[in-house]
Amino acid sequence: MVLIGFYKYSTRESTSDLSKYQGKSRRDYMSVTNGIQMNTNSVGVQQGGPNSSSLENSHQHIIEEFEKGLNPTDLNASKVEAHVLGYGEISTVFQIDGLDTVACKRMPLFENKTDAETYENNYRLYCRHLSDAGLTIPNDDTQVIENQGRPVTLYIIQDQLPVNNFAHKLIHTESDKEAESIIRSIVLEIKKIWDYNKQKSPDLELALDGQLSNWVKDGDQFVYIDTSTPLFKIKGLEQLDPELFLKSAPSFLRWLIRWLFLQDVMDRYYNLRQVLLDLVGNLYKENKPELIPAVLEIINDNLDGNDEPINEKEVTKYYKEDKLIWALFLALRRFDRWLKTTLFRQRYEYILPGKIER
Ligand SMILES: Nc1ncnc2c1ncn2[C@@H]1O[C@H](COP(=O)(O)OP(=O)(O)OP(=O)(O)O)[C@@H](O)[C@H]1O
Ligand SMILES: [Mg+2]
Repeated sequence: MVLIGFYKYSTRESTSDLSKYQGKSRRDYMSVTNGIQMNTNSVGVQQGGPNSSSLENSHQHIIEEFEKGLNPTDLNASKVEAHVLGYGEISTVFQIDGLDTVACKRMPLFENKTDAETYENNYRLYCRHLSDAGLTIPNDDTQVIENQGRPVTLYIIQDQLPVNNFAHKLIHTESDKEAESIIRSIVLEIKKIWDYNKQKSPDLELALDGQLSNWVKDGDQFVYIDTSTPLFKIKGLEQLDPELFLKSAPSFLRWLIRWLFLQDVMDRYYNLRQVLLDLVGNLYKENKPELIPAVLEIINDNLDGNDEPINEKEVTKYYKEDKLIWALFLALRRFDRWLKTTLFRQRYEYILPGKIER
């Protein structure tokens, strides 16, 4: 997600290759792509309650040891080796040594186990709804870890997908025509959520982060991987505690962020036009602005009848504002880390990206 989804990039190439599973049924693919028995019985739908993890004990042990020995401010000084696959505002995505086929999303957000399990339950429900709406999501599992004197951490574990198949990579390696076709497919996937919301209204409403880095090509379909922020409403009531986002923000600024833009940022993901505006704005960040006019045509053809078409000026303005907000936010988080680790000699729980190219 974007409060959540602005500063992700991959730092390492994955060697797995989805194409070798083509021709198999989706379910075969799910079971072949990882050596780990995941908690799934159909396309990415979790079964069972929060404690029904089906990760093998030895794998659970590796994640536990990783968390125990993790040094968030100096990853190289951690006991178990790992690579960062991507950064989020509330999660860091790791490939942990010994668990080479999965991506482990670490969320050190919770004051107690109950809060972590509530989140875990919401996560499962959200994934189930994404699948029901017609999206394809990776095979997955979860693990909650408690360590004395530290926040309770939730790990969301997904099949690791090939970095070269992520949409933000493909738009650079494929022709512009193919890139447009990829984005058209993604727009159609995004619309499935709003069709589903119409069907389920007023009982249920799902939000989605449509950014290019959240979609991975698998044959002729796209897998949605950014499932770790379960934003959805039941009978109009938000299920995600917004304060969880603020946990990763500098403590001295939480009131300001809450007051200035928290609600606004959360609401954005419930609005199809905003999600598509964010998607097209992404082309600036991904350094492909030449695709914007063609993508705007695709998007405007797919907006709700009542929505105003989006023009290039609006995209530029939106992108500039967002870039500023998130650059400021990251700078403040770095300052907060410095205060905590250098001045107060405390542990800083979050892992911040280095310089971001935008
Ligand atoms: N299953 C996966 N396989 C390979 N790489 C992944 C996988 N999941 C995530 N990544 C990498 O990590 C990046 C961030 O992941 P993701 O979108 O799930 O988190 P996020 O946007 O940070 O969400 P949030 O802040 O809500 O946790 C991706 O863009 C990708 O580069
Ligand atoms: Mg993302």
